[in-house]
Amino acid sequence: MNVGIFIPIGNNGWLISKNAPQYMPTFDLNKTIVQRAEHYGFEFALSMIKLRGFGGETEFWEHNLESFTLMAGLAAVTERIQLFATAATLTLPPAIVARMASTIDSISNGRFGVNLVTGWQKPEYSQMGLWPGDEFFANRYDYLGEYATVLRDLWNTGRSDFKGEHFQMDDCRVSPKPQADMKVICAGQSEAGMAFTAKYADYNFCFGKGVNTPTAFAPTVERLVKATAESGRDVTSCALFMVIADETDEAARARWEHYKDGADHEAIAWLGEQGAADTKSKGDTNIRQMADPTSAVNINMGTLVGSYESVARMLDEVATVPGNSGVMLTFDDFIKGIEDFGSKIQPLMKSRQHVTDMLESA
Ligand SMILES: Cc1cc2nc3c(=O)[nH]c(=O)nc-3n(C[C@H](O)[C@H](O)[C@H](O)COP(=O)(O)O)c2cc1C
Repeated sequence: MNVGIFIPIGNNGWLISKNAPQYMPTFDLNKTIVQRAEHYGFEFALSMIKLRGFGGETEFWEHNLESFTLMAGLAAVTERIQLFATAATLTLPPAIVARMASTIDSISNGRFGVNLVTGWQKPEYSQMGLWPGDEFFANRYDYLGEYATVLRDLWNTGRSDFKGEHFQMDDCRVSPKPQADMKVICAGQSEAGMAFTAKYADYNFCFGKGVNTPTAFAPTVERLVKATAESGRDVTSCALFMVIADETDEAARARWEHYKDGADHEAIAWLGEQGAADTKSKGDTNIRQMADPTSAVNINMGTLVGSYESVARMLDEVATVPGNSGVMLTFDDFIKGIEDFGSKIQPLMKSRQHVTDMLESA
């Protein structure tokens, strides 16, 4: 199983809590995280794009770096790890994203790929006059399909003459082309999102589900497997989990409870409002999972809480889900979390034995 890291490009990572570590996103912090991840054999790092935060006392996600420029910097200070930036496709023409990707492909020597997002939080775009109207909730994956077609044209052939409803290319050119096959991620889990992913992307990133229920996301992967049976393309799934680990189950559980006790309810209320704003699509968007009050303190991502042994065992269970090829991790405290993962959790994982062997023989 591949392991990646969802780096904290926004303040406070993924905990909407007054009791969680409070920090700003900086290049230095993310450089340390990605270099340590590379040291421990992580296969990839992804940064999201977020253009407006949730507010509240913790000013959650009000402070965010920009994804492509951050990954360009990280490409220059790493050697092996695969890097992905996220394109907010309402804000950037596809020919510009194609060229930015070619540039980071050059900086990284072929270690770069792109996560394509339609956007789900209207104020990120309406604040700059780029929200196309609420019908976009319903037709966003049509838009993204055209966008991906232009990207693929430009990366594969260096030119595009695509004529669609949203994009019209006129002998559009991008050179140099990327040296490596440009991998595309989509993280949509609605029916339309899965259909898009099966047709145009290489990976579907999905939310893990629940607390200490490492295989509960299996039905989401099954839906992707069905969608790819229709498209006939090779697309695998990668699940997102937060790890809160400590010497004992009790110590880890106490930290998780402490974060929940400090939940920033004002910021969480904003998330709930934004999650409810989409009344135009089929209502099967996973933004509903993110905003669900059950565990909104970490956006309801799958959470693995326990001793290093317990977390290693649960991650090995994630690896058993058919159709799932990887796990992307977040931590409550990223630098300590990576060190603990690399030195205490990974060596106990059967699904990472090959990496442990490789690191020992290096
Ligand atoms: C791992 C992961 C990364 C994501 N990154 C971003 C992001 O950077 N920006 C964003 O607006 N949405 C992001 N999303 C949200 C998805 O792109 C998508 O909009 C959301 O899952 C809703 O899609 P759906 O309606 O098809 O379920 C991310 C989701 C996941 C699971």
